[in-house]
Amino acid sequence: MATTVMPDVAHDVKDLSLAARGKIRIEWADQWMPVLRLIRQRFAQEKPLAGIRLSACLHVTSETANLAITLREGGAEVALCASNPLSTQDEVAASLVKDYHIPVFAIRGEDHESYYAHIQSALEHQPHITMDDGADLVTTVLTKRQDLIPGILGGTEETTTGVIRLRSMAKNGVLKFPIVAVNDADTKHLFDNRYGTGQSTIDGIIRATNVLFAGLKVVVAGYGWCGRGVATRARGLGADVIVTEVNPTRALEAVMDGFRVMPMAEAAKIGDVFITLTGDKSVLTAEHFKVMKDGAIVCNSGHFNVEIDIPALEELALGKRKTRDCVEEYTLRNGRKVYLLGEGRLVNLAAAEGHPAVVMDMSFANQALCAEYMAKNARRLEAKVYPVPQEIDQTVARLKLEALGVAIDTLTPEQEAYLASWSEGT
Ligand SMILES: NC(=O)c1ccc[n+]([C@@H]2O[C@H](COP(=O)([O-])OP(=O)(O)OC[C@H]3O[C@@H](n4cnc5c(N)ncnc54)[C@H](O)[C@@H]3O)[C@@H](O)[C@H]2O)c1
Repeated sequence: MATTVMPDVAHDVKDLSLAARGKIRIEWADQWMPVLRLIRQRFAQEKPLAGIRLSACLHVTSETANLAITLREGGAEVALCASNPLSTQDEVAASLVKDYHIPVFAIRGEDHESYYAHIQSALEHQPHITMDDGADLVTTVLTKRQDLIPGILGGTEETTTGVIRLRSMAKNGVLKFPIVAVNDADTKHLFDNRYGTGQSTIDGIIRATNVLFAGLKVVVAGYGWCGRGVATRARGLGADVIVTEVNPTRALEAVMDGFRVMPMAEAAKIGDVFITLTGDKSVLTAEHFKVMKDGAIVCNSGHFNVEIDIPALEELALGKRKTRDCVEEYTLRNGRKVYLLGEGRLVNLAAAEGHPAVVMDMSFANQALCAEYMAKNARRLEAKVYPVPQEIDQTVARLKLEALGVAIDTLTPEQEAYLASWSEGT
Protein backbone atom coordinates (compact mmCIF):
# COMPACT_ATOMS: atom_id res chain seq x y z
CA MET A 1 0.00 0.00 0.00
CA ALA A 2 1.35 3.43 -0.92
CA THR A 3 1.77 5.85 1.94
CA THR A 4 1.07 9.53 1.39
CA VAL A 5 3.61 11.80 2.95
CA MET A 6 2.02 15.09 3.93
CA PRO A 7 4.06 18.02 2.66
CA ASP A 8 5.15 20.54 5.23
CA VAL A 9 2.04 22.68 5.65
CA ALA A 10 2.14 25.22 8.47
CA HIS A 11 -0.91 24.75 10.66
CA ASP A 12 -2.46 24.82 14.10
CA VAL A 13 -5.63 22.77 14.07
CA LYS A 14 -7.27 20.55 16.67
CA ASP A 15 -6.57 17.09 15.31
CA LEU A 16 -5.44 16.05 11.83
CA SER A 17 -7.03 12.64 12.30
CA LEU A 18 -10.43 14.35 11.86
CA ALA A 19 -9.56 15.08 8.22
CA ALA A 20 -11.53 12.23 6.61
CA ARG A 21 -14.80 13.50 8.14
CA GLY A 22 -13.92 17.03 7.13
CA LYS A 23 -13.30 16.04 3.52
CA ILE A 24 -16.76 14.49 3.25
CA ARG A 25 -18.28 17.68 4.65
CA ILE A 26 -16.33 19.83 2.21
CA GLU A 27 -17.49 17.67 -0.70
CA TRP A 28 -21.09 17.80 0.53
CA ALA A 29 -21.01 21.62 0.61
CA ASP A 30 -19.42 21.68 -2.85
CA GLN A 31 -22.47 19.97 -4.35
CA TRP A 32 -24.55 23.00 -3.31
CA MET A 33 -22.13 25.60 -4.63
CA PRO A 34 -22.48 25.47 -8.44
CA VAL A 35 -21.51 29.09 -9.05
CA LEU A 36 -18.29 28.79 -7.08
CA ARG A 37 -17.61 25.53 -8.93
CA LEU A 38 -17.91 27.26 -12.33
CA ILE A 39 -15.54 29.98 -11.13
CA ARG A 40 -13.15 27.31 -9.89
CA GLN A 41 -13.14 25.62 -13.31
CA ARG A 42 -12.31 28.91 -15.03
CA PHE A 43 -9.70 29.78 -12.39
CA ALA A 44 -8.01 26.41 -12.92
CA GLN A 45 -7.50 27.26 -16.58
CA GLU A 46 -6.78 30.97 -16.40
CA LYS A 47 -4.87 31.17 -13.08
CA PRO A 48 -5.84 34.83 -12.47
CA LEU A 49 -4.32 34.74 -8.98
CA ALA A 50 -0.94 33.31 -9.98
CA GLY A 51 1.79 34.69 -7.75
CA ILE A 52 -0.70 36.13 -5.24
CA ARG A 53 -0.41 35.30 -1.53
CA LEU A 54 -3.78 35.65 0.16
CA SER A 55 -4.47 35.60 3.91
CA ALA A 56 -8.10 34.95 4.80
CA CYS A 57 -9.76 35.42 8.20
CA LEU A 58 -13.13 33.72 7.74
CA HIS A 59 -15.37 31.28 9.60
CA VAL A 60 -13.58 27.98 8.99
CA THR A 61 -16.52 25.99 7.64
CA SER A 62 -17.04 23.54 4.80
CA GLU A 63 -18.20 26.40 2.54
CA THR A 64 -15.10 28.45 3.31
CA ALA A 65 -13.01 25.39 2.49
CA ASN A 66 -14.49 25.42 -1.02
CA LEU A 67 -13.64 29.09 -1.36
CA ALA A 68 -10.06 28.47 -0.24
CA ILE A 69 -9.74 25.59 -2.73
CA THR A 70 -11.14 27.84 -5.50
CA LEU A 71 -8.64 30.60 -4.73
CA ARG A 72 -5.84 28.05 -4.74
CA GLU A 73 -7.04 26.70 -8.10
CA GLY A 74 -6.80 30.29 -9.33
CA GLY A 75 -3.10 30.23 -8.53
CA ALA A 76 -3.14 31.92 -5.11
CA GLU A 77 -1.20 30.68 -2.11
CA VAL A 78 -3.82 30.79 0.62
CA ALA A 79 -3.48 30.84 4.43
CA LEU A 80 -6.61 30.71 6.59
CA CYS A 81 -7.46 31.63 10.17
CA ALA A 82 -10.79 31.89 11.99
CA SER A 83 -12.89 35.06 12.20
CA ASN A 84 -14.62 33.85 15.37
CA PRO A 85 -13.32 31.65 18.21
CA LEU A 86 -16.42 29.44 18.17
CA SER A 87 -17.17 29.01 14.47
CA THR A 88 -14.39 26.65 13.40
CA GLN A 89 -15.36 23.18 12.19
CA ASP A 90 -12.29 21.28 13.41
CA GLU A 91 -12.69 18.43 10.95
CA VAL A 92 -12.81 20.88 8.03
CA ALA A 93 -9.69 22.64 9.31
CA ALA A 94 -7.94 19.25 9.52
CA SER A 95 -8.94 18.26 6.00
CA LEU A 96 -7.81 21.57 4.51
CA VAL A 97 -4.36 20.94 5.94
CA LYS A 98 -4.10 17.22 5.31
CA ASP A 99 -5.99 16.73 2.06
CA TYR A 100 -5.66 20.12 0.38
CA HIS A 101 -2.35 21.29 1.86
CA ILE A 102 -3.70 24.70 2.76
CA PRO A 103 -2.23 26.27 5.92
CA VAL A 104 -4.96 26.72 8.55
CA PHE A 105 -4.69 28.25 12.02
CA ALA A 106 -7.99 27.71 13.82
CA ILE A 107 -9.34 25.61 16.69
CA ARG A 108 -12.93 25.71 17.83
CA GLY A 109 -13.14 27.21 21.32
CA GLU A 110 -9.76 28.97 21.11
CA ASP A 111 -9.28 31.74 23.66
CA HIS A 112 -8.72 35.41 22.89
CA GLU A 113 -4.95 35.01 22.92
CA SER A 114 -4.91 32.03 20.52
CA TYR A 115 -7.46 33.76 18.28
CA TYR A 116 -5.05 36.67 17.75
CA ALA A 117 -1.99 34.41 17.62
CA HIS A 118 -3.71 32.58 14.75
CA ILE A 119 -4.36 35.85 12.94
CA GLN A 120 -0.66 36.64 13.33
CA SER A 121 0.22 33.21 11.92
CA ALA A 122 -1.98 33.81 8.87
CA LEU A 123 -0.19 37.13 8.39
CA GLU A 124 3.24 35.42 8.46
CA HIS A 125 2.20 34.45 4.95
CA GLN A 126 2.91 38.10 3.95
CA PRO A 127 -0.29 38.57 1.95
CA HIS A 128 -0.79 40.58 -1.20
CA ILE A 129 -4.55 40.30 -0.62
CA THR A 130 -6.45 40.16 2.67
CA MET A 131 -9.88 38.57 2.99
CA ASP A 132 -11.75 39.46 6.16
CA ASP A 133 -15.02 38.70 7.93
CA GLY A 134 -15.31 41.42 10.57
CA ALA A 135 -12.06 43.30 9.78
CA ASP A 136 -9.89 41.75 12.53
CA LEU A 137 -7.21 40.82 9.97
CA VAL A 138 -6.93 44.35 8.55
CA THR A 139 -7.05 45.82 12.06
CA THR A 140 -4.13 43.58 13.08
CA VAL A 141 -2.16 44.65 9.99
CA LEU A 142 -2.78 48.34 10.70
CA THR A 143 -1.99 48.13 14.41
CA LYS A 144 0.64 45.40 14.72
CA ARG A 145 2.06 44.52 11.30
CA GLN A 146 2.50 47.85 9.50
CA ASP A 147 5.62 46.35 7.92
CA LEU A 148 3.29 44.30 5.68
CA ILE A 149 1.40 47.31 4.30
CA PRO A 150 3.74 48.06 1.34
CA GLY A 151 3.24 44.51 0.03
CA ILE A 152 -0.55 44.51 0.30
CA LEU A 153 -2.48 45.26 -2.89
CA GLY A 154 -5.89 45.33 -1.24
CA GLY A 155 -8.53 43.25 0.46
CA THR A 156 -12.14 42.17 0.62
CA GLU A 157 -14.66 42.23 3.49
CA GLU A 158 -17.49 39.79 4.03
CA THR A 159 -19.82 41.28 6.66
CA THR A 160 -21.75 44.41 7.65
CA THR A 161 -19.80 45.01 10.86
CA GLY A 162 -16.48 44.69 9.02
CA VAL A 163 -17.59 47.16 6.34
CA ILE A 164 -18.64 49.63 9.07
CA ARG A 165 -15.22 49.31 10.74
CA LEU A 166 -13.35 49.68 7.44
CA ARG A 167 -15.37 52.75 6.42
CA SER A 168 -14.49 54.26 9.80
CA MET A 169 -10.79 53.50 9.12
CA ALA A 170 -11.04 55.15 5.68
CA LYS A 171 -12.82 58.18 7.17
CA ASN A 172 -10.15 58.55 9.83
CA GLY A 173 -7.33 58.20 7.27
CA VAL A 174 -5.91 55.00 8.80
CA LEU A 175 -6.88 52.56 6.04
CA LYS A 176 -3.78 52.02 3.90
CA PHE A 177 -5.04 49.93 0.99
CA PRO A 178 -8.28 49.49 -0.98
CA ILE A 179 -11.02 47.13 0.18
CA VAL A 180 -14.00 45.78 -1.72
CA ALA A 181 -17.12 45.56 0.45
CA VAL A 182 -18.40 42.13 -0.60
CA ASN A 183 -21.18 42.41 1.99
CA ASP A 184 -22.76 45.25 0.05
CA ALA A 185 -23.24 43.27 -3.17
CA ASP A 186 -26.94 42.57 -3.74
CA THR A 187 -26.12 38.92 -4.33
CA LYS A 188 -24.53 38.85 -0.86
CA HIS A 189 -26.62 40.67 1.73
CA LEU A 190 -30.05 40.16 0.14
CA PHE A 191 -29.51 36.40 0.38
CA ASP A 192 -26.77 35.57 2.89
CA ASN A 193 -27.78 38.09 5.56
CA ARG A 194 -31.51 37.66 5.03
CA TYR A 195 -32.18 34.02 4.13
CA GLY A 196 -28.91 32.57 5.43
CA THR A 197 -28.96 34.25 8.83
CA GLY A 198 -32.76 33.93 8.93
CA GLN A 199 -32.70 30.15 8.74
CA SER A 200 -29.39 29.32 10.42
CA THR A 201 -30.03 31.50 13.47
CA ILE A 202 -33.28 29.66 14.16
CA ASP A 203 -31.46 26.40 13.43
CA GLY A 204 -28.81 27.28 16.04
CA ILE A 205 -31.43 28.10 18.67
CA ILE A 206 -33.32 24.88 18.01
CA ARG A 207 -30.19 22.70 18.04
CA ALA A 208 -29.04 24.33 21.29
CA THR A 209 -32.37 24.21 23.14
CA ASN A 210 -34.90 22.06 21.23
CA VAL A 211 -37.57 24.71 21.89
CA LEU A 212 -40.80 24.76 19.89
CA PHE A 213 -41.08 28.11 18.13
CA ALA A 214 -44.85 27.87 17.70
CA GLY A 215 -46.44 30.05 20.35
CA LEU A 216 -43.16 31.56 21.60
CA LYS A 217 -42.75 35.29 22.02
CA VAL A 218 -39.56 35.98 20.07
CA VAL A 219 -37.91 39.38 20.34
CA VAL A 220 -35.72 40.33 17.37
CA ALA A 221 -33.42 43.29 18.00
CA GLY A 222 -32.52 45.05 14.75
CA TYR A 223 -34.63 44.95 11.58
CA GLY A 224 -31.76 45.07 9.09
CA TRP A 225 -31.08 42.39 6.50
CA CYS A 226 -30.37 39.76 9.15
CA GLY A 227 -33.20 40.83 11.46
CA ARG A 228 -35.76 40.78 8.65
CA GLY A 229 -34.73 37.22 7.81
CA VAL A 230 -34.91 35.98 11.39
CA ALA A 231 -38.22 37.73 12.13
CA THR A 232 -39.84 36.29 9.01
CA ARG A 233 -38.58 32.76 9.62
CA ALA A 234 -39.59 32.82 13.32
CA ARG A 235 -43.08 33.95 12.31
CA GLY A 236 -43.17 31.16 9.75
CA LEU A 237 -42.69 28.68 12.59
CA GLY A 238 -45.63 30.17 14.47
CA ALA A 239 -43.83 32.50 16.87
CA ASP A 240 -45.30 35.80 18.01
CA VAL A 241 -42.49 38.12 16.87
CA ILE A 242 -41.66 41.49 18.43
CA VAL A 243 -39.11 43.78 16.80
CA THR A 244 -36.97 46.45 18.48
CA GLU A 245 -35.21 49.14 16.43
CA VAL A 246 -33.50 52.53 16.69
CA ASN A 247 -34.00 53.52 13.05
CA PRO A 248 -37.50 54.98 12.44
CA THR A 249 -37.70 53.83 8.81
CA ARG A 250 -36.72 50.26 9.66
CA ALA A 251 -39.14 50.30 12.61
CA LEU A 252 -41.93 51.48 10.32
CA GLU A 253 -41.10 48.76 7.85
CA ALA A 254 -41.36 46.19 10.63
CA VAL A 255 -44.77 47.59 11.65
CA MET A 256 -46.05 47.39 8.07
CA ASP A 257 -44.61 43.90 7.70
CA GLY A 258 -46.99 43.01 10.52
CA PHE A 259 -44.68 42.83 13.55
CA ARG A 260 -45.20 44.46 16.94
CA VAL A 261 -42.52 47.10 17.54
CA MET A 262 -41.64 48.43 20.99
CA PRO A 263 -38.61 49.54 23.04
CA MET A 264 -36.46 46.75 24.46
CA ALA A 265 -37.36 47.85 28.01
CA GLU A 266 -40.97 46.76 27.22
CA ALA A 267 -40.11 43.72 25.14
CA ALA A 268 -37.76 42.45 27.88
CA LYS A 269 -40.74 41.83 30.16
CA ILE A 270 -42.66 39.65 27.71
CA GLY A 271 -40.17 37.81 25.50
CA ASP A 272 -39.40 34.09 25.73
CA VAL A 273 -36.46 34.22 23.29
CA PHE A 274 -34.30 37.27 22.53
CA ILE A 275 -32.13 37.44 19.40
CA THR A 276 -29.82 40.41 18.76
CA LEU A 277 -28.77 41.21 15.18
CA THR A 278 -27.85 44.87 15.28
CA GLY A 279 -24.06 45.06 14.85
CA ASP A 280 -24.30 47.38 17.87
CA LYS A 281 -23.22 46.91 21.49
CA SER A 282 -25.11 46.67 24.82
CA VAL A 283 -28.49 45.95 23.23
CA LEU A 284 -29.45 43.65 26.11
CA THR A 285 -28.24 44.99 29.45
CA ALA A 286 -28.78 44.60 33.21
CA GLU A 287 -32.00 46.65 33.12
CA HIS A 288 -33.40 44.10 30.66
CA PHE A 289 -32.15 40.92 32.38
CA LYS A 290 -33.73 42.10 35.67
CA VAL A 291 -37.23 42.17 34.21
CA MET A 292 -37.06 39.06 32.02
CA LYS A 293 -39.36 36.13 32.64
CA ASP A 294 -38.06 33.01 34.34
CA GLY A 295 -36.53 30.79 31.65
CA ALA A 296 -35.88 33.52 29.10
CA ILE A 297 -33.39 32.54 26.39
CA VAL A 298 -30.96 35.17 25.08
CA CYS A 299 -28.68 34.85 22.08
CA ASN A 300 -26.89 36.89 19.46
CA SER A 301 -26.41 36.53 15.71
CA GLY A 302 -24.67 39.86 15.10
CA HIS A 303 -20.96 39.74 14.34
CA PHE A 304 -19.36 40.41 17.73
CA ASN A 305 -20.28 39.13 21.20
CA VAL A 306 -20.92 42.63 22.54
CA GLU A 307 -24.64 42.91 21.76
CA ILE A 308 -25.52 41.10 24.99
CA ASP A 309 -23.83 42.65 28.04
CA ILE A 310 -22.47 39.37 29.39
CA PRO A 311 -20.39 40.96 32.20
CA ALA A 312 -23.64 42.54 33.50
CA LEU A 313 -25.38 39.17 33.34
CA GLU A 314 -22.49 37.58 35.25
CA GLU A 315 -22.74 40.30 37.88
CA LEU A 316 -26.49 39.86 38.34
CA ALA A 317 -26.15 36.11 38.70
CA LEU A 318 -25.80 34.14 41.92
CA GLY A 319 -24.43 31.26 39.91
CA LYS A 320 -24.24 29.67 36.49
CA ARG A 321 -23.97 26.19 35.10
CA LYS A 322 -23.82 24.58 31.70
CA THR A 323 -27.10 22.77 31.09
CA ARG A 324 -26.58 21.65 27.49
CA ASP A 325 -23.94 22.14 24.78
CA CYS A 326 -23.99 25.86 24.01
CA VAL A 327 -26.45 26.65 26.87
CA GLU A 328 -25.38 28.45 30.05
CA GLU A 329 -27.98 28.81 32.81
CA TYR A 330 -27.69 31.96 34.93
CA THR A 331 -29.63 32.08 38.19
CA LEU A 332 -30.29 35.72 39.01
CA ARG A 333 -30.64 37.21 42.49
CA ASN A 334 -34.39 37.53 41.91
CA GLY A 335 -34.50 33.74 41.60
CA ARG A 336 -35.24 33.74 37.87
CA LYS A 337 -33.17 31.86 35.35
CA VAL A 338 -31.84 33.30 32.11
CA TYR A 339 -30.27 31.05 29.48
CA LEU A 340 -27.40 32.36 27.34
CA LEU A 341 -26.62 30.51 24.11
CA GLY A 342 -23.18 30.10 22.53
CA GLU A 343 -21.43 32.54 24.90
CA GLY A 344 -23.24 35.38 23.14
CA ARG A 345 -21.31 34.66 19.93
CA LEU A 346 -22.95 34.17 16.52
CA VAL A 347 -25.49 31.50 17.50
CA ASN A 348 -25.86 30.18 13.97
CA LEU A 349 -22.18 29.27 13.86
CA ALA A 350 -21.65 28.44 17.54
CA ALA A 351 -24.64 26.09 17.83
CA ALA A 352 -25.32 25.14 14.20
CA GLU A 353 -23.35 25.10 10.94
CA GLY A 354 -23.73 28.68 9.78
CA HIS A 355 -25.43 29.49 6.51
CA PRO A 356 -26.40 26.72 4.12
CA ALA A 357 -23.92 26.21 1.27
CA VAL A 358 -26.51 27.30 -1.32
CA VAL A 359 -26.34 30.82 0.08
CA MET A 360 -22.59 30.85 0.72
CA ASP A 361 -22.23 29.92 -2.96
CA MET A 362 -23.19 33.49 -3.86
CA SER A 363 -21.25 35.20 -1.07
CA PHE A 364 -18.09 33.29 -1.89
CA ALA A 365 -18.53 33.62 -5.66
CA ASN A 366 -18.39 37.36 -4.95
CA GLN A 367 -15.31 36.85 -2.77
CA ALA A 368 -13.49 34.85 -5.45
CA LEU A 369 -14.36 37.31 -8.23
CA CYS A 370 -13.46 40.30 -6.03
CA ALA A 371 -10.07 38.73 -5.21
CA GLU A 372 -9.51 38.46 -8.98
CA TYR A 373 -10.69 42.06 -9.41
CA MET A 374 -8.30 43.21 -6.69
CA ALA A 375 -5.37 41.33 -8.23
CA LYS A 376 -6.06 43.04 -11.56
CA ASN A 377 -7.12 46.52 -10.46
CA ALA A 378 -5.70 47.30 -7.00
CA ARG A 379 -2.90 49.44 -8.37
CA ARG A 380 -5.33 52.02 -9.70
CA LEU A 381 -7.52 52.07 -6.57
CA GLU A 382 -7.09 54.32 -3.53
CA ALA A 383 -7.12 53.39 0.17
CA LYS A 384 -10.93 53.43 0.31
CA VAL A 385 -13.83 51.03 0.67
CA TYR A 386 -15.21 50.22 -2.80
CA PRO A 387 -18.50 48.60 -3.78
CA VAL A 388 -18.47 45.28 -5.61
CA PRO A 389 -18.44 46.14 -9.34
CA GLN A 390 -21.98 45.75 -10.69
CA GLU A 391 -20.75 43.42 -13.39
CA ILE A 392 -19.58 40.94 -10.75
CA ASP A 393 -22.84 41.20 -8.80
CA GLN A 394 -24.90 40.60 -11.97
CA THR A 395 -22.67 37.74 -13.10
CA VAL A 396 -23.22 35.97 -9.77
CA ALA A 397 -27.00 36.45 -10.03
CA ARG A 398 -27.05 35.23 -13.63
CA LEU A 399 -24.97 32.14 -12.90
CA LYS A 400 -27.07 31.30 -9.83
CA LEU A 401 -30.28 31.54 -11.84
CA GLU A 402 -28.77 29.30 -14.51
CA ALA A 403 -27.75 26.79 -11.86
CA LEU A 404 -31.29 26.84 -10.47
CA GLY A 405 -32.67 26.28 -13.97
CA VAL A 406 -34.56 29.57 -13.94
CA ALA A 407 -34.84 31.56 -17.17
CA ILE A 408 -35.90 35.21 -17.27
CA ASP A 409 -37.02 37.69 -19.91
CA THR A 410 -34.72 40.06 -21.79
CA LEU A 411 -35.48 43.68 -22.62
CA THR A 412 -36.51 44.18 -26.26
CA PRO A 413 -34.68 46.98 -28.14
CA GLU A 414 -37.95 48.96 -27.95
CA GLN A 415 -38.10 48.55 -24.17
CA GLU A 416 -34.45 49.49 -23.78
CA ALA A 417 -35.01 52.69 -25.76
CA TYR A 418 -38.18 53.46 -23.76
CA LEU A 419 -36.50 52.96 -20.38
CA ALA A 420 -33.63 55.23 -21.44
CA SER A 421 -35.86 58.04 -22.77
CA TRP A 422 -37.91 60.88 -21.29
CA SER A 423 -40.02 61.90 -24.27
CA GLU A 424 -42.90 59.43 -23.97
CA GLY A 425 -45.31 60.48 -21.22
CA THR A 426 -49.08 60.46 -20.62
N1 LIG B 1 -24.94 35.52 11.93
C1 LIG B 1 -24.39 35.64 10.73
O1 LIG B 1 -23.97 34.66 10.12
C2 LIG B 1 -24.32 36.98 10.11
C3 LIG B 1 -24.43 37.11 8.72
C4 LIG B 1 -24.39 38.38 8.16
C5 LIG B 1 -24.21 39.48 8.98
N2 LIG B 1 -24.06 39.31 10.33
C6 LIG B 1 -23.89 40.42 11.26
O2 LIG B 1 -25.18 40.77 11.77
C7 LIG B 1 -25.22 42.15 12.14
C8 LIG B 1 -26.38 42.82 11.41
O3 LIG B 1 -26.15 42.80 10.01
P1 LIG B 1 -27.21 43.42 8.99
O4 LIG B 1 -26.65 43.16 7.63
O5 LIG B 1 -28.58 43.00 9.33
O6 LIG B 1 -27.03 44.98 9.35
P2 LIG B 1 -28.04 46.17 9.06
O7 LIG B 1 -27.23 47.41 9.17
O8 LIG B 1 -28.81 45.92 7.80
O9 LIG B 1 -29.08 46.09 10.27
C9 LIG B 1 -28.79 46.37 11.60
C10 LIG B 1 -30.05 47.00 12.20
O10 LIG B 1 -29.90 47.10 13.62
C11 LIG B 1 -30.46 48.33 14.03
N3 LIG B 1 -29.91 48.71 15.34
C12 LIG B 1 -28.71 49.29 15.65
N4 LIG B 1 -28.60 49.47 16.98
C13 LIG B 1 -29.74 48.99 17.53
C14 LIG B 1 -30.22 48.89 18.86
N5 LIG B 1 -29.51 49.33 19.90
N6 LIG B 1 -31.45 48.34 19.06
C15 LIG B 1 -32.21 47.89 18.03
N7 LIG B 1 -31.80 47.96 16.73
C16 LIG B 1 -30.58 48.51 16.49
C17 LIG B 1 -30.08 49.30 12.91
O11 LIG B 1 -30.93 50.44 12.93
C18 LIG B 1 -30.28 48.43 11.69
O12 LIG B 1 -31.61 48.53 11.17
C19 LIG B 1 -23.85 42.68 11.78
O13 LIG B 1 -23.02 42.61 12.90
C20 LIG B 1 -23.36 41.72 10.71
O14 LIG B 1 -21.97 41.75 10.57
C21 LIG B 1 -24.15 38.09 10.91
